[in-house]
Amino acid sequence: MWYFRSPQIIFGEDSLDFLESLDMEKVVIVTDKVLAKLGLPSLVKEHISDAIFHTIDEIPEEPSFSDIDSHSRLPESFNPDTIIAIGGGSVIDSAKILYFKIMRPDLDYYSLTPLEPLNIKGKMRFIAIPTTVGTGSECSWAAVVSDREHHRKLELASPEIIPDYSILDPRMVGDLPDRLLKSTVTDALTHAIEGATSSWRNPFSEALAMEAVSLITHNVKLALTDRKNLEARSMLQISASMGGLSFSNSQIGLAHALGHAFGSLFRKPHGFSVGLFLEPVIDFNSDSVANIYEKLNLSFSGEFRKETLKESIASLLKFLDAPAVIYDFGITREEFISRREELIEKSLESTGIIGNPRDVGRSDIEKIIEKIGR
Ligand SMILES: [Fe+2]
Repeated sequence: MWYFRSPQIIFGEDSLDFLESLDMEKVVIVTDKVLAKLGLPSLVKEHISDAIFHTIDEIPEEPSFSDIDSHSRLPESFNPDTIIAIGGGSVIDSAKILYFKIMRPDLDYYSLTPLEPLNIKGKMRFIAIPTTVGTGSECSWAAVVSDREHHRKLELASPEIIPDYSILDPRMVGDLPDRLLKSTVTDALTHAIEGATSSWRNPFSEALAMEAVSLITHNVKLALTDRKNLEARSMLQISASMGGLSFSNSQIGLAHALGHAFGSLFRKPHGFSVGLFLEPVIDFNSDSVANIYEKLNLSFSGEFRKETLKESIASLLKFLDAPAVIYDFGITREEFISRREELIEKSLESTGIIGNPRDVGRSDIEKIIEKIGR
């Protein structure tokens, strides 16, 4: 028996209008300072009348438990009926954890596992409004938190922290800077490839991944060359959510295991960190999931479709200016070698190892790491 889990998704032009149909009295807004400055939380609030807001706008990039914990105690007598996350993966993941902590202050973070019933679903409304086009967090029941002390990323998950509603309004990504768009699209692409090929793959995760790849390759160039083209950006939002649904209903794989460890050790953006490992991981897995790789390749459109999936991905990653080796990140060989052991250890701790379609051992990781560090 298996389940397919998804929030109710509201998408397309003017989808923020949906908020007007909900009764809200006390609302926690979770966002970050940059987005607050850009006025995106204000745009959301315009669609909510007569509510009292408590705004948390100090979520940093790649937050740790202590970054999140300081916000989990709300003002006295502020009992929210709704929590709204407005942001990228860091903000939405933090909101998932805050949602859990507000509802269950008696439990510690490590209770966030699929095995432990939390009994929080339905007691407070949870809305996610993404402002990037890759994380898929708005549709997933996973949350990634940085453990800075041990230089690692913790992958927490519970079906009870999936948002109730995910609102994909293209206005929220209208001013997304090119570099961030490219990095987050790289993340969405990796979610699709790993969601389709995970050892826990299923017809839903495969179908969503194929369409996510198709939408990305149809729209990414247009979204970057014609910044006013909200239709293309809307399609990228949808592809990101599809990628999120795909991996969330199967599992991430080895590129995420390595990318989480790499991003955490070298403090590099998530999307480009996982993208760095995509091609060597495809090489590694190719005999195990050759037929799915073939199908995924057929989902690439136009100029990005090449003979093989690996070649198609290489051409798309090149277009996205995604780093292909450590030097593209500005990391020296010496720096890399000095942290190589930690990178291997942290990667082996990731759930992406379990989800990978081919069994992964230490020597496999060593070979893959050699490819991006030579
Ligand atoms: Fe990711």
